[in-house]
Amino acid sequence: MITTEPPPDPLRITDLEVRFGGIRAVQGVSLTLRRDEVLGLLGQNGAGKTTVVNCVSRSVDASSGRIELFGRDIRRMKPFQVTRAGVSRTYQTAAVFGALTALQVGMLARDAHDRRATAVEYALRLPRARRHERQARASVTQALELVGFSAPVNRRLGELTYGQAKLADLARAVAGEPRILLLDEPASGLSVRERDQMAEAIQRVRRELGVPVLIIEHDMELMQRLCDRTIVMDTGRILAEGRLDELLTRPDVAVSLLGVTPQEAAG
Ligand SMILES: Nc1ncnc2c1ncn2[C@@H]1O[C@H](COP(=O)(O)OP(=O)(O)OP(=O)(O)O)[C@@H](O)[C@H]1O
Ligand SMILES: [Mg+2]
Repeated sequence: MITTEPPPDPLRITDLEVRFGGIRAVQGVSLTLRRDEVLGLLGQNGAGKTTVVNCVSRSVDASSGRIELFGRDIRRMKPFQVTRAGVSRTYQTAAVFGALTALQVGMLARDAHDRRATAVEYALRLPRARRHERQARASVTQALELVGFSAPVNRRLGELTYGQAKLADLARAVAGEPRILLLDEPASGLSVRERDQMAEAIQRVRRELGVPVLIIEHDMELMQRLCDRTIVMDTGRILAEGRLDELLTRPDVAVSLLGVTPQEAAG
């Protein structure tokens, strides 16, 4: 008899624990990012959301637990290795790349993504390196267009509006041709108009790339608009999981996220 295994999930986290000294930032977190979904991660400040994403992008070491990317254990990988394996992320503050231009950060992502030409070929500007650079520039330009970036590509991110800097960061993540996208508060600090542009950009990225997205955000409206499913974290643990509109009717979730019960919020 032939049994066909279902294809592995894009991201599967099992029993994740992270300790920083005495702080238990993440405790027994298990979650799955499925194919073709936008999964929301909600929770008050300090709930552990960014730490979960940091473990996946390997900028933080988990104390224990498993993290699998399409069935492959990534817990011992270096950050550049998970990037090459298909994990792309954006950052809570767009200031990370403030000194670079939108084009430069995009080129960095391409560089991390593939190394078809060696450093020596680059230094000597041999044909393969030149061709590779042309291709990289084209895909970065495409990514910037896709997210609706409208500022000059040669201006430093630190000199752009926060909205454009955040879009450039999203384009950088997209330019790396990810297999999964992790977005850490893409709309934080944005005006309502910029937030709407960001929501549209994320939807366009979803349509074009078809990659699953894990998104952290405090903005409920944005989350309602984008997420197929949402997980709520509270002090390092998962409190609830489901559809956001349904979750918000739960008293424990409403108290955790908003500080009030649904009845109090309504009245
Ligand atoms: N590198 C670190 N060293 C020490 N403690 C840390 C570190 N990173 C996070 N923490 C602590 O771990 C806990 C979870 O932080 P985390 O940044 O994951 O929260 P968050 O849910 O992303 O919050 P926010 O909504 O404010 O971004 C907090 O108590 C935080 O102070
Ligand atoms: Mg955070």
